Amino acid sequence: MTSKAYTVRAPSNIALVKYWGKLPNHNQVAANSSLSMTLSHCEAVTTCQLVDGEEHTVSFGGTAVTRDHKAGAKIFRHLDRMAAFGQKLDGCSGKAFAVQTYNTFPTSAGIASSAAGLCALTVAAAAAWRDTDCWHRLAEQGFNRPLLADLARQGSGSAGRSMFGGFVTWQSGEAAKAEPQTIEPLWPAEHWPLCDTIAVLSTREKAVSSTDAHREVWTSPLFELRLASLPQTLATVKRAIADRDIEALGEAIEQEAVNMHSVSMTAQQPITFPSTASFALMTALKRWRQKTGLRAYFTLDAGENVHIIHEPRELPALKRQLAEFPGISELICDTIGAGPTLSRA
Ligand code: PMV
Repeated sequence: MTSKAYTVRAPSNIALVKYWGKLPNHNQVAANSSLSMTLSHCEAVTTCQLVDGEEHTVSFGGTAVTRDHKAGAKIFRHLDRMAAFGQKLDGCSGKAFAVQTYNTFPTSAGIASSAAGLCALTVAAAAAWRDTDCWHRLAEQGFNRPLLADLARQGSGSAGRSMFGGFVTWQSGEAAKAEPQTIEPLWPAEHWPLCDTIAVLSTREKAVSSTDAHREVWTSPLFELRLASLPQTLATVKRAIADRDIEALGEAIEQEAVNMHSVSMTAQQPITFPSTASFALMTALKRWRQKTGLRAYFTLDAGENVHIIHEPRELPALKRQLAEFPGISELICDTIGAGPTLSRA
């Protein structure tokens, strides 16, 4: 017998202070605290229902995927994790999940597709178990938002932050390694309606996964310096958001993105996520700021596409400049958003 199906639309998020490196011998606990802005248009759309049978079924972007399939492995691992968690709760075990999922944006290209995907999957599985599309009822039945965020975090660290809208922090690192990890919203989206205009330079999948990079960064001589400097960075970013000070925020997030990539590039097996075009665009953005007074600032996740953070009034001028820049295949004009939504399929 199949149950009702539930659909979750979960947004990606862009880290302003990055999670980079995991504590060894821990269950997906980050080496440092991070802070992100939840997006609204870049989403994973995931439908889940309980079905009889031993094995889950997963369709990813319309194609059936299996456990040994690259795109499927993370999803199956998370379904197993959810199933193991469900064993401990009344009424959450004994069936397999049938999942259909797709992303509204390029996958594995530095737009945090696993953040959106694993967040959506977590809520959709809990909704199927509890047979509800009501967040309130989910919370009453054992799945409150902090718990869902912590479950999503175990699937993909950044996914925990997508569980909330606005500006979100994940407290982690040596001083905060206890589980469940604390992931919480700091300000709602309305506090400061920032934009993330993503210059897509390539949609090819990155050559190195963030999972491998999280392991490798420990070998960089710069990594300990990074960890030591992050509390100050976090404080500066929080102050800039509290004051809605775009110049202070921009300066801090650009330095932080370069810091993160410097660590990867100086690892024993160096990883360079930005491409020549990414570096050229980062440089051009600085030039446009100096020449035209444009107030827009870059950040990059584990991929070559450049995220440009700015206030809405800068968008027309930014678009004019980007139109002149060669090699942008797509411009995704995203904005800060309110977090995931849940409905009956
Ligand atoms: O959640 P993961 O394992 O895909 O790692 C995400 C790492 C970054 O996107 C580069 C930074 C972050 O905090 O989101």
